[in-house]
Amino acid sequence: MRFLAFEGLDGSGKSTLINGLDQEFSARGMGCVISREPGGTPLGNAVRDLLLKVDAEHPVPRAEALLYQADRAQHVEKVIRPALAQKKWVLSDRFAASSLAFQTGGRLISQEEILWLNRFSTGGLEPDLYILLDLSVEESLRRMAGRPQEADRFERESKDFHERVRQAYLRLASQDPSRWLVLNSSETSEQMLHKLLAHLQGLRWLV
Ligand code: TYD
Repeated sequence: MRFLAFEGLDGSGKSTLINGLDQEFSARGMGCVISREPGGTPLGNAVRDLLLKVDAEHPVPRAEALLYQADRAQHVEKVIRPALAQKKWVLSDRFAASSLAFQTGGRLISQEEILWLNRFSTGGLEPDLYILLDLSVEESLRRMAGRPQEADRFERESKDFHERVRQAYLRLASQDPSRWLVLNSSETSEQMLHKLLAHLQGLRWLV
């Protein structure tokens, strides 16, 4: 079993890729658990509302950072660790790197502080692999504008904010290339799935 976390700007196609991989796992008779942050647990779903609703009081950046960590601590202990203990693969739509990209890159909280908070809430658990679906900010904004649902707090942020988030992700990936796979999100979901499967096979995690 392995723990994979999918990261990227909104609209980068994480959920489609996760569903595609899930189908591949089912076809191989392998058990996997799909989850997400924020919102992988009932408590996390309540936190998600606090974080994303536009008509509620907006958390200040440090409150926001802590709410993501509360969601993460609950997620790790209630969902991820139990699934790994049962030898299941875990596919998580976002994990600790989202806090480094959005709260450090986007909100400009120091990396040192977010690293410390991530360690606190995860108890040191890290994904075996992060998959970054890299997308230009223009394309991300274009895809979000085409969605039927109302834009959340992050989707209303400036282009500059999203550009800092993207660059923070690319920096994380280049600093730790063995833990990151970068996919180009302007490719089709089939092409990305093909590359991801080839990468997992190359690592001998999948036959
Ligand atoms: P997500 O569920 O990916 O949004 P959507 O359902 O619109 O695709 O994530 C919600 C937002 O939360 C996203 O804009 C990124 C942000 N986020 C952080 O800022 N920090 C974090 O640690 C996490 C997990 C998410």
